Amino acid sequence: MTEEQFEDRERVENVRLTHQTGMNVEGDLYALVGGKEFFVKLTQKFYEGVALDPILKPMYPEEDLGPAQVRLQLFLEQYWGGPTTYQEQRGHPRLRMRHMPYKINPAARAAWLTQMKAALDAQGLPELYHAQMWAYLDRAATAMLNTMED
Ligand code: HEM
Repeated sequence: MTEEQFEDRERVENVRLTHQTGMNVEGDLYALVGGKEFFVKLTQKFYEGVALDPILKPMYPEEDLGPAQVRLQLFLEQYWGGPTTYQEQRGHPRLRMRHMPYKINPAARAAWLTQMKAALDAQGLPELYHAQMWAYLDRAATAMLNTMED
């Protein structure tokens, strides 16, 4: 299976997740959490944590984390049903492939998720939306693992 097929299949599985009323939470989440403003705040908070993280910070090729923050923001906006600016600027996400240059072992995954959890918790989302986002981020971080070495 190619990376693109892998990611498309992930997306189909995600979109099928619904809450008790049968509403498609995943596809509508962009609007439900407050649109662009939410994703700006989430990723800014996340990168504030990355800047101080001894495992993550050295992995970033650029000293300025601003452009990386915007890439993650646009990706997440698109993923949750917002504008497709990410795809227009960067092409197909191919996230696993794009992360191959970086050593993503269980410790790096855990560090990424720790910073993301702090950023997500700080947004004060309703429990359902929080849980839906967290389930995806946790699973996506696992998919990014590319080595088990220390
Ligand atoms: C598991 C631990 C992870 C680590 C250590 C990690 C690290 C990195 C690094 C070092 C970069 C390059 C910085 C840049 O120039 O943008 C990057 C890019 C990126 N990461 Fe991650 N990442 C992880 C997980 C994730 C997850 C789970 C997602 C999405 C849910 C994600 C989304 C992105 C995006 C969208 C980019 C920019 C891709 C591009 O357009 O070039 N990352 N990541």
